[in-house]
Amino acid sequence: MLYLKNQEAVIVVNNELVPKDLTKKYSQKEILEIEKKYLAPAVGHYYEDPVLFVDGKGAILKDSSGKEYIDLFAGICTTITGYNHPRYVATIQWQAEHLVYTSSLYSTIPYAVLVKQLAEIAPKGLSHSFIVNSGSEANEAALAMVRKYTGNPYIIACQRGYHGRTTLARELSSAGWRTFSEAHPSGVRFTPYGYCYRCHFGKEHPDCDMECAHYLREVIRTQTNKAIAAFIAEPIQGVGGIVQPPAEYFQIVYEIVKEYNGVYISDEVQTGFGRTGGKWWGIQHTGVSPDIITMAKGFGSGIPIGGFVSRPEIAANYTVTDAFATFGGNPLSCAAAVAVIEIIREENYLEKAAKLGALLKKNMEELKEDHKIIGEVRGQGMMLGIELVRDQSTKEPAFQELLTVMETCREKGLLVGKGGLDNNVIRLQPPLEITEEQVSQASEIFDEALTKAEKTM
Ligand SMILES: Cc1ncc(COP(=O)(O)O)c(C=O)c1O
Repeated sequence: MLYLKNQEAVIVVNNELVPKDLTKKYSQKEILEIEKKYLAPAVGHYYEDPVLFVDGKGAILKDSSGKEYIDLFAGICTTITGYNHPRYVATIQWQAEHLVYTSSLYSTIPYAVLVKQLAEIAPKGLSHSFIVNSGSEANEAALAMVRKYTGNPYIIACQRGYHGRTTLARELSSAGWRTFSEAHPSGVRFTPYGYCYRCHFGKEHPDCDMECAHYLREVIRTQTNKAIAAFIAEPIQGVGGIVQPPAEYFQIVYEIVKEYNGVYISDEVQTGFGRTGGKWWGIQHTGVSPDIITMAKGFGSGIPIGGFVSRPEIAANYTVTDAFATFGGNPLSCAAAVAVIEIIREENYLEKAAKLGALLKKNMEELKEDHKIIGEVRGQGMMLGIELVRDQSTKEPAFQELLTVMETCREKGLLVGKGGLDNNVIRLQPPLEITEEQVSQASEIFDEALTKAEKTM
């Protein structure tokens, strides 16, 4: 319950009046104690001394002590319009005052407007969308649809990829966290990804004949009934450590997928909505036209929403008996996503991500000259990875040193992410609402953090 008391908004929790601004009520220490007592350990935080964030603006987050941080990780590659973008906030406020929820059993304006906009920004030929609540759900829905369309159970995913944590999405993911309960009963097969820095075949690009891509034929011929439902891949692996294969990888794989009558699904949960710079979708940098794109994260810039956009013929038989999500397509999430698309368009985020991403990458490449801990700088636009190694020739993963980098950055007011099978890749995936000055400041802090980590080696 929320009401006004002495001009201050309060809510009632356990029959107790609590200010609406809960920062006035709870300290960081109390919150950590509550979490320890009541939260399932499935929830884990970054940093030895976890941060309690209470506010944000643009690419800056503020903790409960008032300290500010430049956020180069956007939650997890999510708050694409930054924190508190006025247009985004105003849209959510307006929608909350009018209609937060009714189900998709009824028409609503935000859902209809959103799917129309998705058809406008999707690669040519993709026009039919279905909206759910997360990236995992989006992948589950797309794959269920494709299995129905093809009548085939086999799905090929890439080694070191990540597609979510629901049952099928987990099985498709090989970026880590596989537990005993996840056998492979579901027709999922894996093929190598194009990870040139640690080539699976011990070769070097471009003299490698793209063996990683051609290997897909071997996987299909030996591990399926020589036909597949779908191939699913990220254009740049995010959780897997910002791994970006050469564009030919996707072109070769696409040809093989079509040879075996499969549907090509581009998982753009991280790479979508301009993150890779210059284009709406990561796959558009490769020359491949996917059949389906799945999306989440930046889609709602923080408000939960996921979905897919598909070729109409694939979506044609995916009916209400096949799929339903209570919150899927709800007016609040859809209105937020509409605002995100409009902000990206009007504020030229695609160009901005290309320009500032190139600056950030240049800064990181310059740091590589001075820091032997950097094995490789890679990625595109506002999706960069810095792989840390203990030794340039053995490429031994520097995962302990990475923690020192992260802790030092945090001390100095910079947030970065981590990824990779060995947890030795720093992920830079900032809000696109970031300034040139913040990019420069962040690069300087990162330089100091690398120096400190190198001293521990
Ligand atoms: C590429 C990719 N696909 C799917 C997912 C799953 O999304 P969600 O966590 O919203 O279920 C993620 C999440 O990190 C992702 O990175």
